[in-house]
Amino acid sequence: MTDRSTRWVGSPSSSGSCRHRPDLPTSTEVVPTAENFDVVIIGGGPGGYAAALYGAAAGLNIAMVEKDKVGGTCLHRGCIPAKELLETASRFRHVAEAERFGVMAGAPALDFGVAIGRKQTVVDGLFKGLAGLLKSRKITVLDGTATLGPDHLVTVVGADGEQAQLHGDSVILAPGSVPRTIPGFDVDGKVVLTSDEVFELDALPGRVAVIGGGAIGCEFASMMADLGSQVTVLEALPQILPGVDKDVVSVVLRSFKGRGIDVRTGVKVGGHDPAGAGTVVRFGEGETLEVDAVIVSVGRRPLSDSLGLDGTAVKVDERGYIVVDELCRTAEDGVFAVGDVIATPGLAHVGFAEAILVIKQLLGEPAVPVDYGKVAWCIYCKPEVAFVGYSEEGAKAAGLDVVTSKHRWMGNSRAIIVDETEGIVKVIAEKQADGTGGKVVGVHMAGPWVTEQLGQGYLAVNWEATVDEIAHYIQPHPSLSENFGETVLSLTGRGLHG
Ligand code: NAI
Repeated sequence: MTDRSTRWVGSPSSSGSCRHRPDLPTSTEVVPTAENFDVVIIGGGPGGYAAALYGAAAGLNIAMVEKDKVGGTCLHRGCIPAKELLETASRFRHVAEAERFGVMAGAPALDFGVAIGRKQTVVDGLFKGLAGLLKSRKITVLDGTATLGPDHLVTVVGADGEQAQLHGDSVILAPGSVPRTIPGFDVDGKVVLTSDEVFELDALPGRVAVIGGGAIGCEFASMMADLGSQVTVLEALPQILPGVDKDVVSVVLRSFKGRGIDVRTGVKVGGHDPAGAGTVVRFGEGETLEVDAVIVSVGRRPLSDSLGLDGTAVKVDERGYIVVDELCRTAEDGVFAVGDVIATPGLAHVGFAEAILVIKQLLGEPAVPVDYGKVAWCIYCKPEVAFVGYSEEGAKAAGLDVVTSKHRWMGNSRAIIVDETEGIVKVIAEKQADGTGGKVVGVHMAGPWVTEQLGQGYLAVNWEATVDEIAHYIQPHPSLSENFGETVLSLTGRGLHG
């Protein structure tokens, strides 16, 4: 950090003198040599930058420390590049199927270099936009690795070894997570990859083993298969997409099978033996699979180990998650943790919500804990999966007496028009005495653009709306959103088309 002006986005001088709000909690001792801020944030991913942007919008003087690039996993190695490459797969499919619409475009061919280039352009553009936003809000961004010590003192070490010290009246820990790996699969970035490396590939592997059939595994499997790879998913549990309603999982499985993706569930992966430019994966009862690349997508682990924390009361559990209460408060007064480093759903939008929750507390405003059982889940494979609230199995396991309704896209005019008829909308509601649906407790979907359609279901579940209340409202015709309306309507005991 020799040249602060180039390594800082926004500078302490540009933010004026530190503003201290009388209603904010302050520590008793301010270390005299450390620069003081209302809030110091460690980590510039969705949890950290949301806290910075929201806090700065409320007038707080904020410093954020990031060791790589602001935007974090989501922007550089996660949500954004994954969805961008899934869009390449979508375009490829559309061209391949265009003849059915009378558009004679010929067979599509993939230039993977162009695809990766566009992915990078999108990421770079969003990164630039975020950096500009942070600067315009006069947030001090430090380039370095931060550790937290006693008395809210944060030490930052830059790549060149130079140190700086910051003091925050409050501190927010948002260091994020990294991909988990499994023994016997050393990541080399060529044959054995995690999500971090997939986005840097310069060629699409011909044959791929995806270990782990969760959200990441299914998105990569779908994208690569649609672009021409031969994909096998090896999942340890009896079902892919754990936590997703079984009817929705069946839709994904049928679609994957139809597109040549081999899904093997209930299999243990033993290891692999390099063979030529690729490798042979050992799994199950003595089975083998020769592939060009292995993608390990078996979950993510919290990145709490480099935070220091000596001399603080912050607790880390045996899995590495920082222990917080429902308001994201650690055991150290005035120190909070948000995002993937706490044991809540590892989703960017959950990180955003936790960041807002913390800033509201710092501002002395009412803060309502995040209801983690009712957050929106969106998985962008083909067919897309989106859900909120209980699955049918989950509701029954929780002791709820429920009634469900399912509507297929086959009967929806817009879905037929856009030629995307695989999938269902399923609504789970509390059962009333007459057998009709009462309060909606879950909405689970697979099919066209369901990640964009979940909004109505999200509001229904979180607003604790009843079937009768929702059924009163009109859906535009023809539209994909009609399928949600029709599914809810049929839970009143009478339906239109199904
Ligand atoms: P995950 O926990 O969702 O799924 C991992 C899967 O790997 C599980 O099904 C598990 O049973 C399986 N597995 C674990 N060890 C295994 C082994 N040795 N052999 C075979 N299978 C094994 O984790 P994933 O998909 O890596 O995602 C990580 C995080 O990122 C999740 O918290 C998820 O919420 C988030 N994410 C969300 C996305 C979305 O919402 N669209 C997209 C990508 C990630």
